[in-house]
Amino acid sequence: MKGLILSGGKGSRLYPLTYTRAKQLVPVANKPVLFRVIETLRDAGITEIGIVVGHTGPEIREAVGGGKQFGVDISYIEQESPLGLAHAVYIARDFLGDERFVMFLGDNVIEGGIGRLIGEFRDQHYNAQIVLTPTDNPQAYGIAELTDGPERRIVRLVEKPRNPPSNLALVGIYMFDPTIHEAVRAISPSWRGELEITDAIQWLITQGHDVHPYIHRGWWIDTGKQSDMLAANAKVLEELTHKIEGYVDRDSTVDERVTVQSGAEIVNSVVRGPAIIGRNVRLVNAYIGPFTSIYHDCVIEQAEIEQSIVLENSRICDIPYRIADSLIGRDVEVTRSEFRPKALKMTLGDNSKVGIL
Ligand code: TTP
Repeated sequence: MKGLILSGGKGSRLYPLTYTRAKQLVPVANKPVLFRVIETLRDAGITEIGIVVGHTGPEIREAVGGGKQFGVDISYIEQESPLGLAHAVYIARDFLGDERFVMFLGDNVIEGGIGRLIGEFRDQHYNAQIVLTPTDNPQAYGIAELTDGPERRIVRLVEKPRNPPSNLALVGIYMFDPTIHEAVRAISPSWRGELEITDAIQWLITQGHDVHPYIHRGWWIDTGKQSDMLAANAKVLEELTHKIEGYVDRDSTVDERVTVQSGAEIVNSVVRGPAIIGRNVRLVNAYIGPFTSIYHDCVIEQAEIEQSIVLENSRICDIPYRIADSLIGRDVEVTRSEFRPKALKMTLGDNSKVGIL
């Protein structure tokens, strides 16, 4: 079986962060989401992986390369613009050949890996297997209606239904046999101009092909929005096996559930877990609260931050308020100004969001 990871798209819900970087490379617990996806596939025994890339392709190629660091073989498939998930399958025809494959959205994080569901698909003759998970808010997702009885099949998919036929939402993991290539060529673009994977799956069902549901019981997070990114960060931090490789001075208190990566220095600070402090980070007179990831080369001095992600090489110094629930980009400076007027002085990118007390 091959793997197809979708890493194109616009990432507009994560602007301004994704103006300058691929959203799949935003780190969750100090590891890019895309790296977690590649490792999830590899751990399920899939080593031949195609990555669909768009305008952030060069950055993704540079970070992932040929896949050697992960023990897999990566090919890249260029998508000229984000024309939909089914379009990504369409253009991956040559890479996929006539093999069965798993398609994984490059911004999704799932609990417990996918070994079991891959195994189930590999051993059966379904044309497709779709991963579903119960949700409290079915109006917000693509929802599947299933047949009753022990041998459940998918009858119908509905996008954001007003009267949901079930509470089972589609997760961004799909398994297909080559019949899907017929489906993506048979459907037309939707009202938003995209070839929708739900339409292609619905086509398979209507044509009488066997589309099997797999119900995932653990957590699964699509990191498309800031709140989801922070939620995924919290979940992964809770699951990490923590260790201290950096330096912690005697005046600091660092909880058990904290990882301090190599070269980091913690001076007269308190770090409450679960949290991760990246390589060569410097914390001085700082408080880092639970569910926080500070990426490499940051400096946090005389400041307090919790439930947040800070990307590499940022400086947060001398801030009189605690920062919480925040996603802070690369090379950002948040500092106190000594100069008059006494005011908030900001240089914010388009679509930035600031919450003031
Ligand atoms: P989405 O999150 O649905 O789309 P997006 O990345 O454009 O984000 P936004 O809605 O915030 O603008 O995409 C899910 C995943 O699939 C994501 O990793 C990007 C990828 N993708 C493609 O590779 N090609 C595509 O044509 C589309 C629509 C998405």
